[in-house]
Amino acid sequence: MDTLVVDHLDRSGVSGKHPAGPLFEEAFRTLRASLLVRVQGTPSVMITSARPGEGKSTIAANLAWSLAFSGQVALVDADFRRPCQHELFRLPNELGFADVLAGRARLDRCFQRVTSSLTVVTGGSKPRDLIELLDRARFDAALDALRADFNFVLVDSPPVLAVADAMVIGACVSGVRLVLKWGEVTESEALLARRRLESSGSTLIGCVVNQFPGTDDGDYHPYVKKYAETSVHGQPGAVRPDTELGPLLKASC
Ligand SMILES: Nc1ncnc2c1ncn2[C@@H]1O[C@H](COP(=O)(O)OP(=O)(O)OP(=O)(O)O)[C@@H](O)[C@H]1O
Ligand SMILES: [Mg+2]
Repeated sequence: MDTLVVDHLDRSGVSGKHPAGPLFEEAFRTLRASLLVRVQGTPSVMITSARPGEGKSTIAANLAWSLAFSGQVALVDADFRRPCQHELFRLPNELGFADVLAGRARLDRCFQRVTSSLTVVTGGSKPRDLIELLDRARFDAALDALRADFNFVLVDSPPVLAVADAMVIGACVSGVRLVLKWGEVTESEALLARRRLESSGSTLIGCVVNQFPGTDDGDYHPYVKKYAETSVHGQPGAVRPDTELGPLLKASC
């Protein structure tokens, strides 16, 4: 399982320019490499987190934007409770993924091309019956169709510990990436999220340590890696974010 590190990004970057951030390019290269090595066929990756607000949608949008430099990418907003990809990319949201799953719209009618290689499927209308919508067979069918048309499929989702949606979606994609907000998510929350995902059939392929306070000190990477490993694996005696890493964690989060 690999660890990506993302510092503070300019959120407006996704709609106009290539996102900035000194750690972002490295994160993207690692993601692409891990997708190609680990996943057979077209990779479909769900971005999720333990808690709300850890940066799932921001990471998904920026990764999709960057991956689109290497192939045809579909970014799907499957957070029907708090959809926001339409806001990030400033797109209409009358029809979207919820409408596809509910049988109200054809998938290709919901494709919104942001660039020649990036297509966004926004969340769509607020679902009347979320339980019905979160049906494994419907997700599988929609994802199969996306995999046939694109080189990468990225799926934005709700947080694992708040609702069960991500566990259903995670079981349909080829891999899951867990966003850990630097200095905020606790080890027990990250571990619980991992356990819930794996017990429902998801394959965790890596973490993204998000909003890491950027620094020119080349020594920080081992600490960040340790933070992610500790949080997700819960190794006994490993570094805890509230002790050894205290000063770094509190720097600008
Ligand atoms: N790397 C980053 N740099 C700067 N701001 C960030 C970064 N990641 C996330 N944010 C900001 O944090 C806030 C939450 O991000 P975002 O909406 O992506 O989280 P989320 O996990 O999708 O939330 P939700 O659980 O509500 O769907 C937003 O204001 C976003 O702009
Ligand atoms: Mg979100």
